[in-house]
Amino acid sequence: MTSVARPAGPPPDDAFRAGQRPDDAIASGQRPDDAFRAGDHPPAPPSDLNALDQPIWPRTARRRDGVLTIGGIDVRDLAGEFGTPLFACDEADFRGRCRDFRNAFGDDDMVCYAAKAFCCREVLRWAAQEGLGVDVCTDGELETALSAGLPAQIITLHGNNKTVGELARALDAGVRHIVLDSFEEIARLAYLAERGGARPKVLVRVTTGVDAGAHEYIATAHDDQKFGFSLASGAAAEAVRRVLGSPDLELAGLHSHIGSQITDAARFESAARRMVGLAAAIRDEHGVQIAELDLGGGFGIAYTPQDHPVEPAAMARILTETVDAGCRAAGLRRPRLTVEPGRAIAGPGTVTLYEVGTIKDVPFDGGLRTYVSVDGGMSDNIRTALYDARYTCVLASRESAAQPALSRVVGMHCESGDIVVRHAYLPADLAPGDLLAVAATGAYCRSAASNYNHVPRPAVAAVRDGAARVLVRRETIEDLLRLDAG
Ligand SMILES: Cc1ncc(COP(=O)(O)O)c(C=O)c1O
Repeated sequence: MTSVARPAGPPPDDAFRAGQRPDDAIASGQRPDDAFRAGDHPPAPPSDLNALDQPIWPRTARRRDGVLTIGGIDVRDLAGEFGTPLFACDEADFRGRCRDFRNAFGDDDMVCYAAKAFCCREVLRWAAQEGLGVDVCTDGELETALSAGLPAQIITLHGNNKTVGELARALDAGVRHIVLDSFEEIARLAYLAERGGARPKVLVRVTTGVDAGAHEYIATAHDDQKFGFSLASGAAAEAVRRVLGSPDLELAGLHSHIGSQITDAARFESAARRMVGLAAAIRDEHGVQIAELDLGGGFGIAYTPQDHPVEPAAMARILTETVDAGCRAAGLRRPRLTVEPGRAIAGPGTVTLYEVGTIKDVPFDGGLRTYVSVDGGMSDNIRTALYDARYTCVLASRESAAQPALSRVVGMHCESGDIVVRHAYLPADLAPGDLLAVAATGAYCRSAASNYNHVPRPAVAAVRDGAARVLVRRETIEDLLRLDAG
């Protein structure tokens, strides 16, 4: 059996970092059955460690004299001005993706930015300025949108457990749609509407039963989970009956959201077909034509070279053709389509900059893995720990011609699961003080950030045309202590 253990005696610094990969261990026959968890095989090292694969990195990302620049700004200047970890958000990228979706869907259809992906006043303004609506799912997101000056008529309120206060605020503000998620909520909203004299436009959220093919925690259309009304059980049809039976609610349409980070258009197609089927059943039972079909978000992005997302134009064509054909066959008027991309707008244009702290070579399965600790971690990016998300990262503050070292980028929290990038190839001469950039962290990172271990949450800075400005300032320890009433 071939030995792949580190030889006795002090090895050269980067011995075994390059070229010693788990695949080699498997190929050597060393651990034939349980060598690695399925799906845990590091990919092959990239041919060029300094390259920035275009679909993964922000549209304005370049190397200038070897240093990563975004929006025309050197990342060393960003780190110097705003500190690390830092979310650097490419405004041109965000706006460009809004426009891509806007242009992909017709003027009669609607695109709403899902604020949960990343929510602050300025990015909601960008979305609105580019012709998008905004969907929110808490009073915090709603107040952010309203305080940014967005008209309530472009805001949709979601959520599986909206409080009475949230429903009342949405009614009072006059939001475009409230998406109903439970029988209690139908009754609650009808009561509030009757008392307030408003007649809100509502969508009924339908659980279509389509398998999103995503991690369980980001799939939302199978029956055994908390969102919506099941199509298969008849709950969705019953919800429509109750809404139509209420004089205080106006049925504006149907809503479906099957999950997130989906790169297989056929899943959306299936959901759209089932929703048209429900619209036909509603017409047959009630004589009512559904005016709006909201097919939610969930459009995947490229986190690694292995991800192949569907472009907005192709997605729009598939959804439009599916709905058009279904409506034609059922003799329905074609409803207005709405989509709610969050990740596909906010995700790819932002990178997280971290400073490298400690570096350790750790033996594993006969080889060595380099653990690179950075000054953030699961408090600014929970996705890897939560659902084993994969990321791409590069040495950003300089170029390097050193050999690739199989690495794992980890945070500074007290958890061994505090992993930012599970498999990374970084140059073997990586050193403390270097800056790393992790790509595509604009969605569900800062918005899901925590203060675990009493770590203040990072700033978000927008970069554009050589200028940078703060979108969300860095938290301080004083901010945290202010909440402490002891
Ligand atoms: C109802 C709804 N719409 C839109 C989205 C946005 O999804 P994504 O960011 O994957 O596009 C979500 C995400 O959870 C959602 O629940």
